Amino acid sequence: MTDSNLFDKKLTEDKSLKGSKKKQKKEDAWKSEGPRDPFAMLDALPEMKQQEIQRALHLFSIGPSLPKTLQQAKTHTYHFWDTQPVRRLGDGVGTHGPIVEGEASLRKEPSSLPSGFSWDTLDLSSPTVLRELCTLLNENYMEEDDNTMRREFSLEYLQWALQPPNWLAQWNCGVRVHTNNKLVGFIAALPADVRMYETEKRMSQVKFLCVHKKLRLKRMTPVLIRELTRRINQHGLYQAVYTAGIVLPTPLSSCRYWLRPLNPRKLTEVSYPGLRQNMNLHRALKFYRLPEVTKTPGLRPLAKEDVVGVHSLLQANLCKFHLSSMLSLQEVEHWLLPRESVIDTYVVEGDAGTLTDVVSFYSVSSRVLNHPVHTGLRAAHLLYVAATTTDPVDLMEDTLVLAKSKGFDVFSALDVMDNKSFLENLKFSIMDKSLHFYLYNWMCPNMSPDKVGLIFPN
Ligand SMILES: CC(C)(COP(=O)(O)OP(=O)(O)OC[C@H]1O[C@@H](n2cnc3c(N)ncnc32)[C@H](O)[C@@H]1OP(=O)(O)O)[C@@H](O)C(=O)NCCC(=O)NCCS
Repeated sequence: MTDSNLFDKKLTEDKSLKGSKKKQKKEDAWKSEGPRDPFAMLDALPEMKQQEIQRALHLFSIGPSLPKTLQQAKTHTYHFWDTQPVRRLGDGVGTHGPIVEGEASLRKEPSSLPSGFSWDTLDLSSPTVLRELCTLLNENYMEEDDNTMRREFSLEYLQWALQPPNWLAQWNCGVRVHTNNKLVGFIAALPADVRMYETEKRMSQVKFLCVHKKLRLKRMTPVLIRELTRRINQHGLYQAVYTAGIVLPTPLSSCRYWLRPLNPRKLTEVSYPGLRQNMNLHRALKFYRLPEVTKTPGLRPLAKEDVVGVHSLLQANLCKFHLSSMLSLQEVEHWLLPRESVIDTYVVEGDAGTLTDVVSFYSVSSRVLNHPVHTGLRAAHLLYVAATTTDPVDLMEDTLVLAKSKGFDVFSALDVMDNKSFLENLKFSIMDKSLHFYLYNWMCPNMSPDKVGLIFPN
């Protein structure tokens, strides 16, 4: 079998010629359906009303929902993912390598869309296009199921997250409505060198999948994924790494979020999920109190001249894990050099001027919906920490102090890499929320979270 099989002909259309008509019909279902379309009815309601309905649906768990646990996944039928070169749930793995190989039958034409919609390649170096994407994500990239908080992206954040060295406009795949040119769907990929166990491969990191909330559950996602895959194939790449909060076939690793309040008062006021329920505000303020200043000598923000030193520190650290990015100097500079309200990185400079430790976190902002006082919430999310000299607990405590002094309300981290060594000590609480890591068209054994050395900011 050839590599191009992965995406269209072999694994989708060829899978069942009989089924293809049915599938096309199903995936065409997301076009507008006339006046009785419930989305059109919803559209007519004011935003507040729509949110009330969404909250009620969440409370009563009405409507189809995707599996959040492996147990739930066992009874779910993956109409799309079962046509893709990914491991089936429950399949054992003894080997390392592609699931399908070869390059025949690369489709030249984009996947067809229902009438009324068209593909667009988003050139994010244009401020106008970047602003459009920002609007789509800010209005539709929800964070909490009950719609109490919504992720809020800035233009600067999107520039950072989507335009590292070698980014490709063709891999910013948008869907627009013909009549008004409105952007209603998006998916992006970035080229990256990734190591999976002993294999190093150039592949794509897929992120920012988003469908307009009025076009949900109409199977636009498979169409977006197929088209992005085609575009990635055109560049001779056949593997991808991606993450999701839901269980798809099949997680390579399932990691948990941990949270550490920095501003317990505000978190209590907005009923932030994951706060310890058994603690009143007075106790919480005392329990989560942090020192006013940092204590590690030589701790300072990363500067451009430090990039070579930090690159070596990260390389030495990341090779301990089974899944990691192999970052170039330019990528280290892009991902870690501080940018206001986007990314912060601190290094520890030893006596001889050598860099001994590095820690970085990026900014995840949310809009608080329908709250009388608070409108926004800022979370710092841990990116990399590599400590060769300072005790990781001390380094991370200083990081919490710095994040708090910069106005962050909460610090979050995944239990990946060596993070478990400080999470409990520093009063992080485990959340009821997972992030699953996936590989497309690559087979290798599962790994525990502490073997995952890859974070890609969404
Ligand atoms: C994620 C999102 C695009 C899914 O859209 P949707 O309208 O619910 O789903 P669609 O009807 O278009 O497609 C359903 C198919 O997409 C798959 N799918 C849904 N979410 C997915 C995800 N995050 N990654 C990969 N596939 C996903 C489903 O499993 C299903 O395929 P299946 O039949 O094989 O199970 C949409 O809910 C959204 O924009 N959410 C807000 C942003 C977000 O959470 N993005 C994901 C970040 S990981």
